[in-house]
Amino acid sequence: MKKYLAGLALASAGMAFAQQDVTVTWLTGNTATALQFGKDAAQRYMDTNPHTIGDQDYNVTVEVTQGPESATDRYALLLQLFEAQSGDADLMDIDVIWPGDLAQHLIDFYQYEGVEEDMQAHFPAIVENNTVDGKLVGIPMYTDAGLLYYRTDLLEEYGYDGPPATWTELQEMATTIMEGEGANNPDFTGFVWQGDAYEGLTCNALEWIASFGGGNFISPEGEIEVFNDQNITALESAASWVGTISPQAVTGFQEEDSRQIFQNGNAVFMRNWPYAYSLATAEDSAIADSVGIAPLPAGEGDGSTPAATLGGWQMGVNAYSENPDVAVDVARFLTSEEEQLLRALEVSNLPTIESVYQSQELLDSNVAWFAELLPVFQNAVARPSTISAPRYNEASRQIFAAVHDVLTGATDAETAMSELEIELEDLTGLPIEGADAGTNTSFASR
Ligand code: GLC
Repeated sequence: MKKYLAGLALASAGMAFAQQDVTVTWLTGNTATALQFGKDAAQRYMDTNPHTIGDQDYNVTVEVTQGPESATDRYALLLQLFEAQSGDADLMDIDVIWPGDLAQHLIDFYQYEGVEEDMQAHFPAIVENNTVDGKLVGIPMYTDAGLLYYRTDLLEEYGYDGPPATWTELQEMATTIMEGEGANNPDFTGFVWQGDAYEGLTCNALEWIASFGGGNFISPEGEIEVFNDQNITALESAASWVGTISPQAVTGFQEEDSRQIFQNGNAVFMRNWPYAYSLATAEDSAIADSVGIAPLPAGEGDGSTPAATLGGWQMGVNAYSENPDVAVDVARFLTSEEEQLLRALEVSNLPTIESVYQSQELLDSNVAWFAELLPVFQNAVARPSTISAPRYNEASRQIFAAVHDVLTGATDAETAMSELEIELEDLTGLPIEGADAGTNTSFASR
């Protein structure tokens, strides 16, 4: 335990009450820039020491540590900490899908005065997502939604007047541009995304199936909607990209792998989250001046629509922390309006406080497009985490494993989805869509 009394710290002010030195550890940052932003933000908090919390003055040190890059690995690490009831990390980034699974290990922010009022500035859907049995287990820090990145220079050069509206158009454009560019650049590819077997693949796959009108894997009402025509078509088309418009290795890619290829100028399209924008347009990027952003393409057929998966991160405070009051104070600072604006400007993370989208500084910056795409972010499709809690992490593991098998060709889409449907039913106890009618109405040939 690092807490001790500094004693007489305010002697120069003629007062002799004790100021307490406390260190809190914040587990954050899956990329170098996110970690650096976190360190700078922590420094801003420390610059205003001492902090009066309750009736005590604290001199706070915030130690910032880096978590694993993959959300799946980060979850495993947190679970380990929690199962050991360890307070090693006081504060942690909480993925938007975790509140239901992890609620019992996180403190309730609503115990603290003023938090309820603070929450009124945030998007209500995220606050609701973070509220489990009336407990607020995470304060929203930033939100996320899948986007299509494209090379404005290449689209123009090859005579296209805008980004693709459907996956078929994306495939055609990527094929043409690859043929042309491939002559001079053997590393050039069409489309990079996240195909590794981890949480990111669940996000990508949800976008494909939702864009074909196939549902959410599990509907918000609690029906398993996995084995249907649209999902099978969506997964078959994604599998057809592997080794054609996307490199074979895409089935091992996470966010940073795709970003590096795109940013080095070796792909025309990329699916990624907004964070990639600040990096792809930074001075050291090979394509800094040629980055376009658009909603992801739609599928085909009835119910098709562009779809973005909802992502995002909250600040949680560990229920086993030795300094929860201080950790809460730090969390409130890090999620404040000022910090969210800086986060948007410096590392292109989407604010969860709506007014930040209208701030003049944002509108004058290179992320002014945040305001334009706000409807896309607000309509983002949530993963089925609330309905499957506290088993979402396991459900997602089943989903990404099944999808990964389809992408690598280990299983065909129809078999994979019919097996996944049963696995999800066993795991969650939820009914399969149309099951009470004795047949799956949405897949006639079953
Ligand atoms: C992003 C999203 C998060 C998601 C993760 C998957 O960090 O914000 O919600 O789980 O990507 O890789």
